[in-house]
Amino acid sequence: MSEFKVALVTGAGSGVGLETVALLHGNGYATVVLDIDSAAAQAQARRLDPQGHSAMAVACDVCDDAQVREITADMLRRWGRIDVLINNAGLPQANLPFDQVDDAQWQRVWGVNVMGIVNLARAVVPAMRESKAGAIVNVTSVAGVRARGGLSAYCAAKAAAISLTQTLALELAPQGIRVNAVAPGSLATPMFDKFLQPGESWDAAMQRYVPQIPVGRLGTPAEIAQAVVWAATQAPDFMTGQTLMVDGGRSL
Ligand SMILES: NC(=O)c1ccc[n+]([C@@H]2O[C@H](COP(=O)([O-])OP(=O)(O)OC[C@H]3O[C@@H](n4cnc5c(N)ncnc54)[C@H](O)[C@@H]3O)[C@@H](O)[C@H]2O)c1
Repeated sequence: MSEFKVALVTGAGSGVGLETVALLHGNGYATVVLDIDSAAAQAQARRLDPQGHSAMAVACDVCDDAQVREITADMLRRWGRIDVLINNAGLPQANLPFDQVDDAQWQRVWGVNVMGIVNLARAVVPAMRESKAGAIVNVTSVAGVRARGGLSAYCAAKAAAISLTQTLALELAPQGIRVNAVAPGSLATPMFDKFLQPGESWDAAMQRYVPQIPVGRLGTPAEIAQAVVWAATQAPDFMTGQTLMVDGGRSL
């Protein structure tokens, strides 16, 4: 079994996931950089450890339960433990009235933002149970507690992810596994562009979004990573089932 603690971060090839996996690696964790974008996962794993001893890239779609199980089994064979799971992979939706969101988009947004958490948790919890310890952090969104018109599927999925965080926390607390969520507000990452209205410029979007954020700016992925890593590795053992709003005050 690895002498280092081991962390798996989904969606770790970009934005919040990229910063989170870097912070965990910097804190001494062996890390699995999981992303559907194979090139992005490999580039980040190489940046963390060019020799590949303490960072492993994995190309995986979190919606694919069989692939998730296979990959986590590989990882356990290699390192023999999993201490931290960060369910960060997320998918935005096109900004559309609810009745123009087709079934394929509902299913995909639900699949990545909700079933992705279920699939990863099912795959890693048995190992955490065995060691009677573990921390799971789900990256949700302020959209899960404060609705935004045009984002019906995304808001519903993120609300479900917050609820799922609570249920998992209840079920897993007796086994020494803490489950919490971090809910970011609007962030300057590649995802943000996908929330814009059709034809909307970046400047117009800033005029629409920023006045709704009390601190007066978008957040950065590094700020969210700090909260995620704190919740996973430093928060009190007594804290579980909670959602930390890291949103510049947007949810108030
Ligand atoms: N950007 C924002 O404004 C914002 C606001 C609130 C919450 N969030 C949430 O924060 C999290 C991180 O978002 P980000 O802004 O860093 O986005 P991002 O687009 O920069 O990164 C998301 C990463 O997830 C990966 N991914 C997408 N689908 C996947 C799948 N099926 N399987 C595996 N990997 C997949 C992408 O390839 C990408 O590397 C997401 O859960 C998102 O919903 C983002």
